[in-house]
Amino acid sequence: MKTIGVLTSGGDAPGMNAAIRAVVRTAIENNMHVLGIKNGYEGLMKGDVVEMNLRSVSNIINRGGTILHSARSEGFKTEAGQEKAAEMCKALGIEGLVIIGGDGSFRGARALTANGINCIGVPGTIDNDIACSEYTVGFDTAMNTALEMVDRIRDTAQSHDRCSIVEVMGRRCGDIALQTGIATGATAILVPEVEFNIERDVITRIINTQKTGKKHFIVVVAEGVGGVRDLAKYIEKRLGIEARATILGHVQRGGSPTVRDRVVASQMGYEAVDLLDKGYGNRVVVMRDGKITHLDINEALDMQRVFDKKLYEIAMSVSI
Ligand code: ADP
Ligand code: F6P
Repeated sequence: MKTIGVLTSGGDAPGMNAAIRAVVRTAIENNMHVLGIKNGYEGLMKGDVVEMNLRSVSNIINRGGTILHSARSEGFKTEAGQEKAAEMCKALGIEGLVIIGGDGSFRGARALTANGINCIGVPGTIDNDIACSEYTVGFDTAMNTALEMVDRIRDTAQSHDRCSIVEVMGRRCGDIALQTGIATGATAILVPEVEFNIERDVITRIINTQKTGKKHFIVVVAEGVGGVRDLAKYIEKRLGIEARATILGHVQRGGSPTVRDRVVASQMGYEAVDLLDKGYGNRVVVMRDGKITHLDINEALDMQRVFDKKLYEIAMSVSI
C-alpha cells in the first residue's frame, strides 16, 4: 500500500482543513495509507507525524486554521534541511506528499521532489497571490470577513460623518483590497500593483464625492501599501474632517470557511491525491479558466501575476 503525507505550510488560511480532509479521504478511498505531518516542513524534518484515518478529519470542514498546524521553517530552506526531510520521508515510508501553502511552500515542494519524494502543491493562502492559479484556498473567506468588518466600520463612520481608512491583508497582492473595496463602496482603494498619488487618488476623490453630498468615506488600503495611520492624519489636516484608521490584521486569517473555499479545497485536495496515485511529482494543482488542473512547479513558479486592471477601473468608476 502506498503511503503519502500531507502538510500545511506558510500562513494558514480558512479552507486548509477542508483540503486536508479531501486529501485523507481520497487517499484512503484509493487504498493509500496517510500520515499527517505537524508544523509544516519543520515537523517533517523532525518526523512529527500522526496517523490519519477517515475519522481524524471529521468535523473539520467547517473549521478555520489547520489541524496539522503550520510553520515557517528557515532550516528547511537549506540543502541540509531538505536532505534531512527527504531522508525522514524515506524512513517513514512516505512516497508522496501533498503540500498545502503558498509559493514559498511550493519552492520547498520542488526541492523535496528533486530529493526523490514526489510532491504536489495545493494553493492555500488568503492573499490570492499565486501567479499560476486564479484562486487560492482562503481568499473568499478572508474577503467576506473583511467585508463584514468594513460594513461595521461604515455604520460608525456614517454616524459621525468621518473618513475611515481600513488596512486589509495582502503583502504583495491587492486582491483582497480591490474586491473588498468594490463590495463596500470604498471611495478610494490603494493597492501595491497600481502607482498612486494621495492627492489625486484619495483627496480629490473625497472632495468630488463631498460635492455630491456624501459625508462619510471609506478608504481601503492593502497591507503592502500600509501607512494608514499617517494617511488618516493627513486627511484630517488636509480636508478638516475626522478620520480614523483601522488595521484588520489576523481576523482575516481565521473563521469558518465559505462554501467556495470548502468546495475548491475539496476539489484541489482530491486532484492532488489523484496525481500522486498516478505517479506524478513536482506539480501544483491550480484553477485556470475556472477549472481545476495542474502545472509543473517550475513553470508555475516562473509565471508573473497579472493584476485585474479592468476590475480596478470599474472600482474607480462606480465609487463616486
Ligand atoms: P508561503 O508558502 O505562504 O508563501 P513562506 O514563503 O513563508 O510561505 O514559505 C513557507 C515555507 O516554505 C518556508 O518557511 C520554508 O520552510 C519553505 N520555503 C520557502 N521558500 C523556500 C525555498 N526557496 N526553498 C525551499 N523551501 C522554501
Ligand atoms: O500571506 C498571508 C499573510 O496573511 C499576509 O497577508 C500577511 O502579510 C502575512 O501572511 C502575515 O503573516 P504572519 O503574521 O503569519 O507572519
